[in-house]
Amino acid sequence: MKLHDKEENRIKPMELNELNEYFNQLSQSKIHFFKTIDSTNTYAKKLLEQADNICSLNKNVIIAESQTAGRGRLGRKFYSPAQTGIYLSIIYVPDEKITNPAKITAFSAVALKRVIERLYKVNPKIKWINDLYLNGKKIAGILTEGFVNYTSGTIDAAIIGIGVNIQNNAEIPQDLAAIVGSICSNENSITNARFIFEIVNEFFKIMSENSDDVISEYKESSFILGTKITVHSVIESTDGIYEATAIDIDNEAKLIVKLADGSTKALNSGEVSLHAE
Ligand code: BTN
Repeated sequence: MKLHDKEENRIKPMELNELNEYFNQLSQSKIHFFKTIDSTNTYAKKLLEQADNICSLNKNVIIAESQTAGRGRLGRKFYSPAQTGIYLSIIYVPDEKITNPAKITAFSAVALKRVIERLYKVNPKIKWINDLYLNGKKIAGILTEGFVNYTSGTIDAAIIGIGVNIQNNAEIPQDLAAIVGSICSNENSITNARFIFEIVNEFFKIMSENSDDVISEYKESSFILGTKITVHSVIESTDGIYEATAIDIDNEAKLIVKLADGSTKALNSGEVSLHAE
């Protein structure tokens, strides 16, 4: 009986055929699908390391039903259980070099937000720089990693890792239960294949859109602008922990904060973790 209950609560298992059909519409794309993997970002990195020509990996997408060592920003773990979430990494090899991976994270957050709104009819908000929230709980995270060409020192490709909690997970560890939410509370008719395809398609579309417009959309969805935040510097020898007000996000996706003494600072996503009040 217990098993039956569980089965009923499952989101639909990944339909590989459906996934292939969708991805046939996206020229040059290739999918790598795993029931379980350590981390889709780590796998993407290995593909890039082994490639003779990394351009051929543009639009490759690594998808897993669960991860055993999912990674988040700032070295954190990303809880990636089977059946209630999706985990994917997009390999992006643009024509020009990448100068600001944080901006790719911001664009990806807007792309993901658009797809969730369109398919699930809910309105997630963005917590700078890489998290999506719904009803005060985190429903998705994005980890962008640059792939560095050690000969030229340039970032030639980016891996955009996206993890989304679609449904509530009954087995969620207690320490996460208060902060981790999901898009839906019940089973829904959107297949994982469709959701993943729409995310990837929207990602490549948004990367060619006008940058100022995308940043404006990012700011409109940001729930920390105008609020008091606690900034934790993660780089030793810098500022430690301090209070500030988030006042803007600039065109490079840096967060502009105002300190108690009236001065402003532009925060880089790799350097701080934020706690909204
Ligand atoms: C964060 O919350 O700080 C970012 C989480 C990113 C998780 C995704 S899941 C797919 C991809 N593979 C990983 O190991 N991490 C990203």
